[in-house]
Amino acid sequence: MADILADMRRTHHCNQLGKEDIGREVVLMGWVQRRRDHGGVIFVDLRDREGITQVVFNPEVDSRVHAKAHALRSEYVIGVRGKVDPRPEGMVNPKLKTGAVEVTVTELKILNRAETPPFLIEDQVDASETIRLKYRHLDLRRPRIQRNLLLRHRAAAAVRRFLDGQGFVDVETPFLTRSTPEGARDYLVPSRVNPGRFYALPQSPQIFKQLLMVAGLDRYYQIVRCFRDEDLRADRQPEFTQIDMEMSFVGEEDIMAVSEQMIREVFKQVLDMDLDLPFKRLTYDEAIGRYGLDKPDTRFGLELADISDIVAGAGFKVFAEVVKKGGIVKALNAKGCIGMSRKDIDDLTDFAAVYRAKGLAWIKVRDDAWQSPIAKFFTDAEKAALAERIGMEPGDLVFFVADQPKVVNEALGHLRNHLGRKLNLIDEKQFQFVWVTEFPMFEYDPDARRYEALHHPFTAPLEDDYELLETDPARVRSRAYDLVLNGFEIGGGSIRIHQMEIQRRVFAALGMEPEAYEEKFGFLLEALKSGAPPHGGIAFGFDRLVMLLCGQDSIRDVIAFPKTQKAACLLTDAPAPASPAQLDELNIRVRKLAPAGSAK
Ligand code: AMO
Ligand code: AMP
Repeated sequence: MADILADMRRTHHCNQLGKEDIGREVVLMGWVQRRRDHGGVIFVDLRDREGITQVVFNPEVDSRVHAKAHALRSEYVIGVRGKVDPRPEGMVNPKLKTGAVEVTVTELKILNRAETPPFLIEDQVDASETIRLKYRHLDLRRPRIQRNLLLRHRAAAAVRRFLDGQGFVDVETPFLTRSTPEGARDYLVPSRVNPGRFYALPQSPQIFKQLLMVAGLDRYYQIVRCFRDEDLRADRQPEFTQIDMEMSFVGEEDIMAVSEQMIREVFKQVLDMDLDLPFKRLTYDEAIGRYGLDKPDTRFGLELADISDIVAGAGFKVFAEVVKKGGIVKALNAKGCIGMSRKDIDDLTDFAAVYRAKGLAWIKVRDDAWQSPIAKFFTDAEKAALAERIGMEPGDLVFFVADQPKVVNEALGHLRNHLGRKLNLIDEKQFQFVWVTEFPMFEYDPDARRYEALHHPFTAPLEDDYELLETDPARVRSRAYDLVLNGFEIGGGSIRIHQMEIQRRVFAALGMEPEAYEEKFGFLLEALKSGAPPHGGIAFGFDRLVMLLCGQDSIRDVIAFPKTQKAACLLTDAPAPASPAQLDELNIRVRKLAPAGSAK
């Protein structure tokens, strides 16, 4: 049979050949990265998944092969047979793994031609992300992204090996299901055979993994896709992957211990890095108190100080009024930043305003006095107390926000991260893990005028706080924990409610009527009545974990076919309109159609 490869079969990848192979006949296959003509000799950088090897077409070695090589262009697919030679003195490329050798070609097969690509297949590309995502198959040829995907694969393999060794069973759970609440909107799928009814794609396998514990599976895991219709950011995608785990007959400590060992194993196998266990821990209150956020970046200082008590009676009305109304005032000491200009401070004020801060008061600490629009409002005793609490020293620039706690903490917490980056306080090589524990069970939603579950409604409250469920839900602490890495929430989980009565009380605290929760979650309550073991678990954001392992800034760089900020796939042009026939079959009438290209 005719076959374009004929008898040519690859002997090596493009990263393999070195000095020890000199003299060997080899066959390489791959893509033309670059062709250079040098005084009759043609050089081609041949690229495959693993790396690059220089191949040489020399007219004195074989004039016919050399003539054929003139036709080569970027991204042509070729196979070459040839001999491994040392590179001439001075031509060795120490930056390339194969930089000491080249392959002198004696046979060339052009396996396919390629049109000129819309951008160069190199790590430093200047094409916009829109173009790169439209031609993702080309974008994915870039070495950096190939490395990311290979690393992602190795991380997944390490996770599977580890969990298998620990007795976890991989069980698949449905995608066409009912709503699984994790705080986002659902993606709905219409049912053709049940007109007017919809499946929801799972926001997580949460309820199913609990049912597997009720079923006696004991230890479950799945590397699983989850779907959430929410506002997208660099670390959020509408479909993303979790390492999802659940265990029976355990408490928080057991789950944290298994998780830590798994993460250590992944870092060892993927980066050959030894992590120190156990990871640090902070309670939610400590995290918010010191860093303003429940996902603190602990790679640098700049911790916040609460000064509400000091300013409550002081002459600066803005601060005093806020405290009187139940708000707080906190300070962030930007050590040594006295040199910042008015413009710098205005920019930071705008930054804080994004998080709804109504102002950003500041004090520059000079050797002799404070320079500040608000210094005049404080007595010497108050100044001394502030200086001590905040650790003010000459050269410092201190920022203040006064407001309700949520606004103060978010504004200063993000400002802290912003300054950490701006002032180069972050050692990018560090991996700082921290568990955040004792989350509040509920958060009050002033718009909906009811409580919402901070984690999800199946999380167990601390037993000590059961009685607060009816009397003071805001004070109920939960048995939830998050794992934070370098300021990113990479995992979250909890011990679950395994007794039906408690589950009912939690639904009630969330303002749900019995009919409503029976209708939505009756099957779970049914299961809890039938012998549910104590159980708990966790889910890791696999994309975020891999992003950090790869040193990338966006999870789009570690997902083969990611979506844009508008949840579109530019490669396939999804989402797309449905045909009238399809809609008819589904009994759906479209009231508004986004124009073509709107997703870009
Ligand atoms: P949670 O909602 O905290 O918990 O999700 C677990 C982890 O998944 C990651 N993650 C995301 N990654 C990318 N894009 C998104 N849109 C996105 N949303 C979440 C985060 C997060 O920490 N069922 C529970 C887990 C449990 O209780 O066991 C759950 O889904 O890294
Ligand atoms: P004002 O008296 O409103 O001119 O404010 C004096 C300083 O306090 C300005 O630097 C404002 O940015 C700052 N400021 C006003 N409101 C707040 C607030 N809620 N929190 C922190 N600083 C504020």
